[in-house]
Amino acid sequence: MNFLEERIMKDGVVKPGNVLKVDSFLNHQMDIELLDEIGKEFHRRFKGADITKVLTIEASGIAIAYPVAKEFGVPLVFAKKSKSINIDGDMYVADVESFTHKNKNQVIVSKKFLNSDDRILIVDDFLANGCALQGLISIAESAGAKIEGLGIAIEKGFQIGGRVIRNLNYRLESLAIVDGMNAETGEITFRKQD
Ligand code: G4P
Repeated sequence: MNFLEERIMKDGVVKPGNVLKVDSFLNHQMDIELLDEIGKEFHRRFKGADITKVLTIEASGIAIAYPVAKEFGVPLVFAKKSKSINIDGDMYVADVESFTHKNKNQVIVSKKFLNSDDRILIVDDFLANGCALQGLISIAESAGAKIEGLGIAIEKGFQIGGRVIRNLNYRLESLAIVDGMNAETGEITFRKQD
């Protein structure tokens, strides 16, 4: 078991509806040492790629992406969720639907901050249905940037997102892949990874 899987076992809480609460260390209260370790691990995995920018989506993606960008020594760009219909031509825009929150947001990134010379590492905390990642992929592609890979802290392997992204032939690395959870017993099963 790796460091994140161990932490999920220790402090993660399984809630009904296949929801994994990690708010004591990852996306509400944040364990800074754990985040630093996540940054180092993604750097170790992707350092062969000449990353120029880390791209994520607000809100909790930013906390994961920060230590990653720091390890690579590159800027972090985060897509903003916008309800505004008056988005001007200076923005890359993608639609992101949330199955969890049952709403739809437009996410935007200023054209100033991504371009065709960029080699991007996309980072997020959770991968469930993959809508957020697909929005970020669409934005990177609109900019003509090269997507070198995608780094996820926790993938819910029983939802479709991971399969969809891997089928698109992107390099997707998830530090922990949860293949099953039981809200009654609190049991969490991880996919074995190399
Ligand atoms: P998707 O982007 O993979 O399609 O995910 P989905 O719409 O299903 O999830 C919507 C939000 O719920 C996302 O956060 C996602 O990170 C989060 N989420 C999904 N499953 C879980 C879970 O089991 N546990 C926790 N803690 N979060 C989960 P968001 O609302 O877009 O982000 P943020 O503003 O909170 O950062």
